[in-house]
Amino acid sequence: MNLRTQVGIVGAGPAGLLLAHLLHLQGIESVVLESRSREEIEQTIRAGVLEQGTVDLMVASGVGERLRREGFFHEGIRLRFDAREHRIDFPALTGGKKVTVYAQHEVLKDLVRARLEAGGQILFEVRDVTVYDLDTAAPKVRYRTREDELRELACDFIGGCDGTQGVCRRHIPGGTLAVFEKVYPFAWLGILCEAPPSSDELVYALHERGFALVSTRSPEIQRLYLQVDPGDKLESWPDERIWAELRERLATRDGWAPKEGPIFHKTIVGMRSFVLEPMQYGRLFLAGDAAHVVPPTGAKGLNLAVADVRVLARALEKFYKSAKTDLLEQYSATALRRVWKAQRFSWWMTSMLHRFPGGDAFQYRVQLAELDYVTSSRAASSALAENYVGLPLD
Ligand code: FAD
Ligand code: PHB
Repeated sequence: MNLRTQVGIVGAGPAGLLLAHLLHLQGIESVVLESRSREEIEQTIRAGVLEQGTVDLMVASGVGERLRREGFFHEGIRLRFDAREHRIDFPALTGGKKVTVYAQHEVLKDLVRARLEAGGQILFEVRDVTVYDLDTAAPKVRYRTREDELRELACDFIGGCDGTQGVCRRHIPGGTLAVFEKVYPFAWLGILCEAPPSSDELVYALHERGFALVSTRSPEIQRLYLQVDPGDKLESWPDERIWAELRERLATRDGWAPKEGPIFHKTIVGMRSFVLEPMQYGRLFLAGDAAHVVPPTGAKGLNLAVADVRVLARALEKFYKSAKTDLLEQYSATALRRVWKAQRFSWWMTSMLHRFPGGDAFQYRVQLAELDYVTSSRAASSALAENYVGLPLD
């Protein structure tokens, strides 16, 4: 039995699920194909910071109710360096905007529930996904179901929302895409621990020993990160070493220390910047991490995925309402303008806040001077705040 839909979507991450939801609100049908199980996607620990525009879009499209109730609204961040702390006040610097801390897997739970309640189709645990006939008016997705049956989904368009390891972009003919990539010589070790919040706002710290970040998930669970060597293994980071390093890197002159508690989750993530151009080939449109990756220092990845699919959903809506293809043709250029600005911001935050292996004393002094400037000049603080809360979605 083969299927047909208007938009075939590969990947049930934030990009794929939100695209399906926004299309549904415009009466456009889609089928989402996901290689993992529902339980797995709803439990994977990833992003935490939502821009104002992401929150506004979720609320306006009817999937923001729990987010509004359970999310933590943050009106600033703290930058810590030279054992001192400085606050960046978002509403004062951006005309009232703020960010919300609400875990990515909670966003996914809300989107999955909304899709299923609306009768939408999400096929979990599919395998061997391939996309083809991309340069025709009838592109197709072929896949194997959970029950091991080979199926074909015929579509008008395909949304390639399958993240960094996805398959969609590999089906674009060689020589069509330009790749821009930068790999950083460090990684983040992230932990989740059972402890009360150490700070009412996120703390980004630069120390001679490297970067550290204090984030949160709930009144009982905290998220912290440390810059580590990209070759490090978790075995070389026992809990006591992690806490000792966090205490040292986050120390202030008045003796602040993070609240400690049992660590129940540890990961090491590499850091890179990556952009594919264009984000489209024929009737395949790439969105989110499938097309671009940012280092997490600017908290932009999930938010960029949301911004892409908003542009794509509008373009598809125009096509189905008026048969006009102009917005679809402009999709890549429109999305990339915002993507590159978020790349710039994420690269800048990363460069300012990490120790570079082999970096000399001069480089470190310049980083400290930059932080001093950012926290003492209203113009520089405003530039940080404006980007952190999110540039306009349009
Ligand atoms: P994904 O979330 O990766 O979703 C892609 C989906 O496609 C997955 O479910 C995958 O299983 C599925 N898939 C892959 N291949 C196939 C296939 N062949 N067939 C079918 N399905 C497939 N971003 C922020 O905005 N703020 C933050 O604070 C932040 N912090 C982060 C912290 C960490 C530690 C990490 C790792 C990332 C962080 N990010 C953050 C980035 C953010 O998590 C990603 O940018 C976001 O998940 C991108 O969404 P996506 O839908 O494009 O891709
Ligand atoms: C997180 O809470 O996971 C988080 C917060 C801020 C970042 C990155 C990750 O910049």
